[in-house]
Amino acid sequence: MGLEMSACDPIDSLRQEHDELRREVDLLLSSISEAATATPSDACIAAISGLVTSLAGSLPSHIRREEGALFSVFEKSFSDPCCTVVLRAEHREILCVLSSLLLSLEEMLKRPRSEEALSGLQAAANSLLSLFERHALREEQVFYTLARCNLSEQQIEEIDCRLKCLR
Ligand SMILES: [Fe+2]
Ligand SMILES: [Fe+2]
Repeated sequence: MGLEMSACDPIDSLRQEHDELRREVDLLLSSISEAATATPSDACIAAISGLVTSLAGSLPSHIRREEGALFSVFEKSFSDPCCTVVLRAEHREILCVLSSLLLSLEEMLKRPRSEEALSGLQAAANSLLSLFERHALREEQVFYTLARCNLSEQQIEEIDCRLKCLR
């Protein structure tokens, strides 16, 4: 039962991806705040655009890896995996807010010095942060622990293999 924590533990890798995503969203929020304090420079606008574009890749990728590896192996083993149903619904919500963030970025790039466009972007980034943080904590404190305690070593290895294919 279970597996010792190690650098290549697949559940630990997913947890590390949460920390990377948290850092990306924090950086985005501080760049937006910086842009809001004065007329934003071209470099600041480019940095915001780069961070949103990066999140548009890394966040769906984390969700795809988590669902395709951990959730699917967990769901094969439990006849009533109600917790993954809730977590999958939260993923859809997070992706929806990410789409709003991308739309807000488009709006800001059309009107880079508009306070209204910048505050729309800030609101979308704040929503993404709070939704993601609540979801990631639920996974880390409840689901990852539940999975670690209930999956066999062989199942953890299967998750690891699937994660490697989903890079
Ligand atoms: Fe998740
Ligand atoms: Fe996650």
